[in-house]
Amino acid sequence: MGYCSLQRCQMELARASHQTRGSDVKTRIVSKQLRESASPTILLLLLIQPILVASQQEKNATPSEKGTGQYVGVNTCKTCHEDLYNKNFENTPHFKTTLQDGYGCESCHGPGAAHVEGGGDVTKIISFKSMSKKDANARCLSCHGEKHQQRHFSASAHASNDVGCLDCHSPHHAKEPEHLLVRSQPKLCYGCHTAAKADFAKPYHHRVDEGLIQCSDCHNVHGTTTIHQVRALPTGDAICGKCHADKQGPFVYEHVPVKTEGCSSCHTPHGSTNPRYLRVSQVNLLCLQCHSFPAQGPAGPSHNQATKYQACTMCHAAIHGSNASNVFFR
Ligand code: HEC
Ligand code: HEC
Ligand code: HEC
Ligand code: HEC
Ligand code: HEC
Ligand code: HEC
Ligand code: HEC
Ligand code: HEC
Ligand code: HEC
Ligand code: HEC
Repeated sequence: MGYCSLQRCQMELARASHQTRGSDVKTRIVSKQLRESASPTILLLLLIQPILVASQQEKNATPSEKGTGQYVGVNTCKTCHEDLYNKNFENTPHFKTTLQDGYGCESCHGPGAAHVEGGGDVTKIISFKSMSKKDANARCLSCHGEKHQQRHFSASAHASNDVGCLDCHSPHHAKEPEHLLVRSQPKLCYGCHTAAKADFAKPYHHRVDEGLIQCSDCHNVHGTTTIHQVRALPTGDAICGKCHADKQGPFVYEHVPVKTEGCSSCHTPHGSTNPRYLRVSQVNLLCLQCHSFPAQGPAGPSHNQATKYQACTMCHAAIHGSNASNVFFR
């Protein structure tokens, strides 16, 4: 999963190695990236890091916008916005935007010289209040766009339906410090997804409301290349396999639909009125949706039964696949 582009690694490494909070921040960023990506590129970058830092600093020496003097720096902003700085910025992850010649406040609000000269003229500073969601997203994506999680955002179901970063996140006023969310899951999602709320209230359901698993275990709300913004495993298999590996296989004898149509062909992923979250109330009816029976069923006495009274899975017990039986007896 080498999602870390060369440019970004350079940027982060250069930023991380800056003297301010240097080693501490560096290890965190680097270890995070290593977790996200086992790419050998990163290890390589670590080795040649001093060279990269040097070249990055050269680049920073003459940044065109900085030369114009339109950026005043975070300490100037702090003189008038000290309360916000102390309570809603310094202790958030975005404090990192002030490191390594970063523009801090101005990396989101734009250059602030005119605003300061005007004694806090609100028309001379980029404000998120008056901005369209699309423009706000673009600002956020200028830093987060290359990350694995966010890089498909612009094409996501959320972006396409005018749901923006700030519907779910707030840099200064997050109610949920983790990930700067405006509300915690699943409440955040239920605010707009009432059908999902109803599904998880059904008698048989994944324990999302109970806090055992989260919507985001299965979905990447920032967009995916798959349908319904459902996550996939790095192998390309359904996300279900992350927690139910025993059902995923591979098996010597695969039950074809598990692989072709996926788990959702027989199960509802959210919740159901049927045990095992099955799509139909009776196991046999499920099987008979695909296996015409008994008309075209296998010959022999074993199937010559009143099908309704005996569950198919009584004999075909290893219904997800088997390493021992080509008809999934065990
Ligand atoms: C001289 C004092 C002063 C300085 C320095 C200053 N501001 Fe302000 N700022 C204000 C005042 C006054 C307001 C309007 C009242 C308010 O919303 O707090 C304001 C409002 C804002 C707003 C809100 C705009 C809106 O639409 O409500 C933002 C964003 C902002 N400032 C960002 C910054 C940033 C970024 C810096 C540093 C580049 C900065 N300010 C420096 C005084 C200042
Ligand atoms: C990561 C981008 C980002 C950074 C960095 C950032 N802001 Fe903001 N700022 C926002 C957003 C988005 C809002 C809209 C309110 C919200 O969602 O939290 C906002 C709102 C504001 C407001 C309006 C009043 C309020 O409380 O909402 C002020 C003033 C402000 N920011 C000042 C600053 C100052 C000063 C800094 C640096 C100390 C700063 N911002 C750093 C994104 C940022
Ligand atoms: C529909 C709600 C929603 C929207 C819209 C949304 N996010 Fe998120 N975001 C979440 C949730 C929930 C999490 C925590 C779970 C996870 O990591 O998926 C999260 C996690 C994150 C994280 C931390 C995890 C990581 O990827 O490093 C970042 C950064 C982030 N979002 C940025 C953004 C940006 C930038 C946008 C807009 C382009 C955005 N988000 C839009 C809900 C949302
Ligand atoms: C100048 C670059 C920059 C911009 C612009 C920016 N961010 Fe960030 N953001 C960062 C950095 C750096 C971090 C800290 C990352 C880390 O700790 O690894 C961060 C962290 C976050 C996190 C928390 C990640 C976590 O795991 O808890 C969220 C959520 C987030 N940003 C959302 C946003 C949103 C929403 C916007 C637009 C309003 C935005 N960011 C704009 C650089 C930026
Ligand atoms: C166990 C994994 C899992 C969890 C947890 C989960 N989802 Fe889903 N969700 C899916 C899958 C898989 C689909 C695709 C459904 C299909 O193929 O029929 C889906 C579909 C959806 C859809 C598309 C409409 C629909 O119902 O088909 C929405 C909206 C949705 N989920 C929202 C949520 C919300 C909100 C939460 C948390 C409250 C959540 N999901 C939790 C796996 C999950
Ligand atoms: C501000 C409202 C809002 C919030 C908050 C929100 N969503 Fe959505 N979501 C939408 C809209 C609108 C769509 C597109 C229309 C639809 O498919 O329902 C959508 C689409 C989706 C889809 C894709 C559905 C499909 O059929 O392709 C999933 C999955 C989803 N959201 C999950 C979540 C999860 C999980 C959360 C919480 C972390 C969340 N949403 C928070 C409004 C929201
Ligand atoms: C993050 C981990 C996780 C993921 C991902 C996940 N599940 Fe589950 N699943 C669980 C847990 C934990 C339980 C047990 C729930 C309980 O005891 O309340 C469960 C229970 C089930 C059950 C019912 C088992 C029973 O004995 O009644 C079915 C069926 C199921 N999951 C199917 C799926 C499908 C299909 C997917 C993919 C769409 C999926 N799961 C994704 C964790 C997960
Ligand atoms: C062809 C239909 C079908 C498909 C496809 C399918 N299942 Fe099942 N699954 C069943 C049936 C039927 C049962 C109930 C078996 C019983 O009652 O003995 C079941 C039971 C389960 C159970 C609970 C029982 C247990 O042994 O723990 C889990 C968990 C589960 N399935 C997960 C999955 C996952 C994950 C996938 C995708 C990898 C999947 N299923 C695909 C039909 C299917
Ligand atoms: C979504 C469609 C679907 C459902 C539902 C389904 N199956 Fe299958 N099943 C198939 C397909 C396709 C094959 C492969 C048939 C082939 O290769 O000719 C298969 C193969 C089998 C086989 C192996 C025999 C063979 O011909 O390879 C058995 C046994 C079987 N299924 C039993 C069941 C039982 C029992 C159920 C209900 C719990 C069930 N199936 C539900 C589609 C389905
Ligand atoms: C009493 C045990 C039993 C029950 C209950 C049972 N089966 Fe079977 N099934 C068998 C036996 C035995 C075979 C033949 C195995 C062989 O050929 O080696 C078989 C074979 C099959 C095959 C493979 C057919 C082929 O052409 O090779 C399918 C499909 C199948 N069963 C579906 C079902 C369905 C659907 C149900 C429920 C409606 C069901 N079975 C209930 C015992 C059972």
